[in-house]
Amino acid sequence: MIHVYATPDQVAKAAAATIAWQVASRPSGNIGLAGGTTPQAAYRLLGEAKLDWSQVVLWLGDERWVPPDHPDSNAGTIRRLLGPAGDALLGPEYELGDPHAAAAAYTAVVMPHLDRGTPDLVVLGLGDDGHTASLFPGTDALDAADPGFVAVWVESQAAWRITATLPLLAAASSLIFIVTGLAKADMVHRVLEHSDPLPAWLVAKANRNVTWLLDDGAASRLT
Ligand code: 6PG
Repeated sequence: MIHVYATPDQVAKAAAATIAWQVASRPSGNIGLAGGTTPQAAYRLLGEAKLDWSQVVLWLGDERWVPPDHPDSNAGTIRRLLGPAGDALLGPEYELGDPHAAAAAYTAVVMPHLDRGTPDLVVLGLGDDGHTASLFPGTDALDAADPGFVAVWVESQAAWRITATLPLLAAASSLIFIVTGLAKADMVHRVLEHSDPLPAWLVAKANRNVTWLLDDGAASRLT
């Protein structure tokens, strides 16, 4: 399902409403959150909303291998934007000192919170190279066969990342991609209309309930 909105602000409102509905309808459910900049406006709106997050489990679709107080940390950014709701966010343990150990530990922490290994809702972004979460093109993270999290060296970022695996994202009851801006238009077109075997396409193809929340800019190359 593809929804196109005139502005990024309207996309943020729609994304926040989707997440708020998930919190209200499944108070003890789980939500995987995207990093990056696009969803931040939605997280800010959620931080201002009056929702009962007390039993919700929040986790990260991916995380940069940086300390939680680093400006690039998805966990740090999301906790700041969500405010008290951010206390529900489970993040990988950078203190373990090794991304592979942290990914394995994160898998052991998050998976028991997923009813029968099923994420209720996962929020994803789209990179301009077709990555989503930290499933980057050409990386071995795409080959991970089990639902969970793996560490991946991303040459294009010259950095380690921790990412949800394709099987974990495929298992989600619902996925929403939030994509805004003209700069993403070509990639949105390639993923949605060309079916290029990019990571975002592989994830969307593997899941049975995918919604795209786009603004006019990101949707501008769709026919
Ligand atoms: C991250 C993400 C990543 C992001 C895309 C889009 O940690 O950066 O989770 O997959 O969603 O790179 O990023 P923007 O929203 O900043 O364009």
